[in-house]
Amino acid sequence: MERTFAIIKPDAVERNLSGKILTKIEDAGFRIVGMKKIHLTKAQAEGFYYVHKERPFFNDLCAFMSRSPVIVMALEKENAIADWRTLMGATNPANAEPGTIRKEFAKNIEENSAHGSDAPETAAFEIPYFFSALELV
Ligand code: TYD
Repeated sequence: MERTFAIIKPDAVERNLSGKILTKIEDAGFRIVGMKKIHLTKAQAEGFYYVHKERPFFNDLCAFMSRSPVIVMALEKENAIADWRTLMGATNPANAEPGTIRKEFAKNIEENSAHGSDAPETAAFEIPYFFSALELV
């Protein structure tokens, strides 16, 4: 079993799409082992995305991620990291496959509805950024 970290981003929560996205997650066989709704501060978003701090989109991305609440989750299944990225679809929804979350719901490359860890080391940083061991069940 593998765990990954997922976010339903502000653009999706604002449009009441959380339920539709959670249905896709459960239908794909993920177990939600941790979940909460939080409103990130700008500083918390910057800490989460620090690997992108030199990228031109960093400031806008952190402003977007902190403008309204998100739903953060730890998801568990075999091959969870790769399978969640497949279900999310490509970063730019214009390039995402039919049936993926980003194809169906994302507004554009920045407001793209979902986040997922891209490697085991990333998941190992991201899950404890938001959850204590006692919150993962
Ligand atoms: P990245 O890690 O490349 O994508 P992914 O979320 O698919 O792992 O980028 C992180 C986030 O940064 C991405 O979800 C949206 C934002 N972003 C932009 O706003 N503009 C861009 O040109 C890129 C590449 C990403």
